Amino acid sequence: MKQFVPTVGSVPTQPSHPIPYKLVPMNRELVPQIAEIERSCFSLPWTEEMLYEELESLNTTCIVAVTEEQEVLGYASLTVVLDEGYINNIAVRRPYRRIGLGSELLRVFERFSIANHLAFLTLEVRDTNLAARALYHSFGFEEVGRRKNYYEKPREDAILMTKYYNKEGTNP
Ligand SMILES: CC(C)(COP(=O)(O)OP(=O)(O)OC[C@H]1O[C@@H](n2cnc3c(N)ncnc32)[C@H](O)[C@@H]1OP(=O)(O)O)[C@@H](O)C(=O)NCCC(=O)NCCS
Repeated sequence: MKQFVPTVGSVPTQPSHPIPYKLVPMNRELVPQIAEIERSCFSLPWTEEMLYEELESLNTTCIVAVTEEQEVLGYASLTVVLDEGYINNIAVRRPYRRIGLGSELLRVFERFSIANHLAFLTLEVRDTNLAARALYHSFGFEEVGRRKNYYEKPREDAILMTKYYNKEGTNP
């Protein structure tokens, strides 16, 4: 799988004090912060061990938004199998939400999907996770199914959301 090229941007936490960040592939030094964000976001978080394992995976990439001071603002993980893209996770540190970071991370996967002719990107999301569902909707993901009682802690359905890139009109 091709490596993502690091890109730069800034998040406008205050109009006069934007925080510059880079999008970089996950590395070992960033894992503890990512695990910390996992624990703050999810009832069944990925552990540091799981994240180190992910670093070894040839078909999974985790991209990370990181400041000059090496603070992780958010991250997202994608697994590619043949021409299918599976978004494993996306999370943004709480104080930096709703200022476009989640979208910026998703845009990287969109560009990757188009450049590498993926047929679709797909993911599962908790039924009650309205913020994430709204984010995916805003990118044109459609609800294509439901897995009953897929999640635990609490038990809850998963909504399957998919965006196709090889359908006429959806791939620019
Ligand atoms: C889901 C998540 C990654 C979104 O990240 P974010 O950086 O806040 O997203 P963005 O600022 O790019 O938001 C883009 C759009 O998504 C939608 N959205 C994001 N958060 C929302 C919320 N809390 N309520 C409603 N819509 C929301 C909006 O349409 C928003 O556009 P707008 O701000 O112009 O209205 C973030 O809320 C998060 O980390 N949640 C916890 C982890 C998680 O649940 N991950 C998903 C696992 S499937």
